[in-house]
Amino acid sequence: MNDKKFQNPLTRRNVVLGGAAGIAGAAVFAQSQKTEAAEPTTVAQNSSSGMLEGKVALVTGAARGIGRATAIELAQKGADIALLDIADPQGVSNIQGYRLATEAELDEAVSLIEAEGKKAVKIIADVRDLAAMKQAAQTITQQLGGLDILVANAGIAIWSPFAEMTSEQWQNVIDVNLTGVANSMWAVLPQMQQQQNGNMIIVSSIGGRQGVAGVTNYASTKWAVIGLAKSAALELGADNIRVNVVAPTAVDTPLYRSEGQYLSTGMNSFEEQDEAMLGYHSLPIPIVEPIDIARAIAFLASNEARYISGMVMDVAAGGNARYTA
Ligand SMILES: NC(=O)c1ccc[n+]([C@@H]2O[C@H](COP(=O)([O-])OP(=O)(O)OC[C@H]3O[C@@H](n4cnc5c(N)ncnc54)[C@H](O)[C@@H]3O)[C@@H](O)[C@H]2O)c1
Repeated sequence: MNDKKFQNPLTRRNVVLGGAAGIAGAAVFAQSQKTEAAEPTTVAQNSSSGMLEGKVALVTGAARGIGRATAIELAQKGADIALLDIADPQGVSNIQGYRLATEAELDEAVSLIEAEGKKAVKIIADVRDLAAMKQAAQTITQQLGGLDILVANAGIAIWSPFAEMTSEQWQNVIDVNLTGVANSMWAVLPQMQQQQNGNMIIVSSIGGRQGVAGVTNYASTKWAVIGLAKSAALELGADNIRVNVVAPTAVDTPLYRSEGQYLSTGMNSFEEQDEAMLGYHSLPIPIVEPIDIARAIAFLASNEARYISGMVMDVAAGGNARYTA
């Protein structure tokens, strides 16, 4: 992306009203015969620390940011974790203003899971590669004894005004943020259908709940995954598979805390961007932490949400109260 494309002359008013952030944008296999929805709620299940005991979760984009925080949160609640990431700073072309994660960041995330006393499987794969994702699911099932939870979190942003956006800038975001989510779901589905039990949580954005100037490609994918999740929830419910979405506001991660992000919204600094987001949220906070998203995901992944499917959970500091529905 050339510098000109970073200089998107959006006004501050556009940003505040448009929502800048979006922009930011086995059980052990033996347990598989038990249907999750049929499990009675016991005191033990309500103890949040162990509510995912015996479960196996795959988190995509787990090297850092929301993915890493989610991996740790699920492990603290008892799950063994497969941490999948592209682990290549330049792994997707056209990204400017920030970089993707390194293998060292993925290794660090793996160590943090092991420090929780849980099993961790490190997988370097690109969610755009369906064959690699299917192979990853097989490896996880073999090494961890099942695959109960998918957190389809990996995502990118490529900022550009729509009028200047190249088809490659458009396609790359579609490939990672939409096809990458579908690939992740296709990869885990055979095991979940065999288990007759599974749980998918897709990370969308406030950019999937309203229009967002400056990242039409990103917002399009974040709306699309909601349609994907709701439709899949209808199809897969009979297999006792739940599908839900979390839609975060601005989260303090490398993707959001990037020059590309604030320049795309006509801002000159993180401080200006924070001020705008403070005005957008109803709660007095400009940005939330990855743990805030991780906790929402952990709830949806747990049996405490056993009859919740096809839902979008907004974690948007009350800015979401502006949505029409
Ligand atoms: N940070 C925010 O403000 C915010 C707000 C709403 C939604 N989100 C969404 O949350 C998710 C996580 O974002 P984040 O803010 O933690 O960003 P991040 O850039 O810190 O983390 C994303 C991770 O995904 C990995 N990744 C990227 N492309 C990949 C690919 N093709 N295959 C495998 N891994 C890949 C990266 O290496 C990185 O580790 C994204 O889907 C993003 O759109 C973020």
